[in-house]
Order: sequence, then structure tokens, then C-alpha cells
Amino acid sequence: MIGASVGNRLRRSDHANGPSIVTKRNWDMDKHAVALAPSILAADFARLGEQVAAAEQGGADRIHVDIMDGHFVPNISMGAPIVQSLRRVTRLPLELHLMISDPDFFLEQLSEAGSDAFLVHWEGNNHVHRTVHRAKALGKRVGVAINPATPAIVLEEILPDVDQVLVMTVNPGFGHQPFLHTTLPKIRRVRQMINEIRPGCDLEVDGGIDATTAPLVVRAGANVLVAGSAIFCEGDGVVAAMQRLRVAAHQAMT
Ligand code: DX5
Ligand code: ZN
Repeated sequence: MIGASVGNRLRRSDHANGPSIVTKRNWDMDKHAVALAPSILAADFARLGEQVAAAEQGGADRIHVDIMDGHFVPNISMGAPIVQSLRRVTRLPLELHLMISDPDFFLEQLSEAGSDAFLVHWEGNNHVHRTVHRAKALGKRVGVAINPATPAIVLEEILPDVDQVLVMTVNPGFGHQPFLHTTLPKIRRVRQMINEIRPGCDLEVDGGIDATTAPLVVRAGANVLVAGSAIFCEGDGVVAAMQRLRVAAHQAMT
């Protein structure tokens, strides 16, 4: 039951040296050289199940769920009940992008609701290492996210411990924002760090990704693309929009 272990959520335990339990869900990263992670923030919430089914039909590799608390970012989005509902309608991995002030407090609840991965921000968290290892101890994949003004170098020490890095290509909090081209050199730097320190770690980008910007980020080294409006707000539907993104991303690799 969600929230059943509230009493344990804030206990000061140290999971840093504990084993990392591998998530059972299939993160089939070989299916597509560049993975697509539709962000449901841009979906029609009244038809969420249908929209996720369409994304699945379009070949989505994972579903990106933006959790916002109105403190870490100036916007409120969704929480555990939505995750729980999503869990019932898709077999795709659910990755939760936590744009919240106190991620540790919600890890267990969101985990029980059905999350497969947590993306936690470096900003505003004095104990990113602890948060990362708490999420791993719950058996989840973990990524660290960095905002546009945060330099790549902050990832250096935590990189060996994570499965993903999320480079924000807009300031977090809202969909439909224009891609920040100034993030491209940072994506290249993160790719270099991953190749040197943690080969196999996903380099994911989030914000303003469409058929025009996808080739830019793929050329810079991204291998997972989050897209909201470019998938759910196109006139010709989700499947066609995803196909367009995939073609654009793959052209960049040839
Ligand atoms: C923004 C969110 C993104 C957002 C992307 O804070 O993290 O995942 O949904 O939306 P688009 O693709 O419309 O920029
Ligand atoms: Zn996001």
C-alpha cells in the first residue's frame, strides 16, 4: 500500500555499501540506438491511458513522468496516484523525473506506486550520493539530472554510481519551452566523461527536443531523448510524431 512505510522513510540509514538490486523490468536499450522517452506532461490527462498506449505503439522505450512540487520548480504536476494508474496500463519502464525539494521523502512511496527509475537533481540536494543509493537500494535505476547553468563537472564523482545522466536542455518546470543551444557543448563534455568513467551509462536530454533539435543532441552524444510537445501535441498523432523524431535522430548518426 502506498505510504504504508511512512515511518521508515526518513530513517537515517546508509545504503551506500549495500548491493544494488537490478530492476526486473526490461530496459531493452538495444532495441533502438537512440531511445525515445515520451514525457506525459504534454499528454491529454483526460485520455492518459490512450496516449500512453499510442506512445507504446509508436515504439516508446520508456515513459518519462515529470513530478513537480511547486517548490523545486514553479509548477505542480503529478504524484504517486498517477504513477500507480500508469503502472496498470503499460509494461514500459516508468522513469520519474523528480523536480521536488525533498526527493528522499518520496522515494519509497513512488517506488511502491510502480516507478522503475528515478532521475534526481543535483541542484538543491546536499546529499545526492545518499539519494542515489537510497533509490538503488529500492531496486531502481538511477540517474542524476543537471540544469542548464550547472556544469558537467559536478557529475564526475557520482558517475560511477548511476545508470543515467539527464542533461536539461531547458530550465525545468514547464513543457513547450525552446531548446537552449548553449547546452550542446555540455552534452559533448558529458558524453566524453561517460565514455571515460562509466561506459554504458545513458546520456538523456530533456526539453525542447523535436525533429530539428534531435539531430543536434544525438550528434553531441545523447542516446535517450525525452520529448513532450513534439510527441503529444502534433496534429498528425503520436505514432507519426514519434516516427518523425526517430528518423531525425537516426539521420544524425549516418
Ligand atoms: C520540463 C520537463 C520535461 C518536459 C519536456 O521540466 O522535465 O520533461 O515535459 O517538454 P517539451 O518536450 O515540451 O520541452
Ligand atoms: Zn522531465
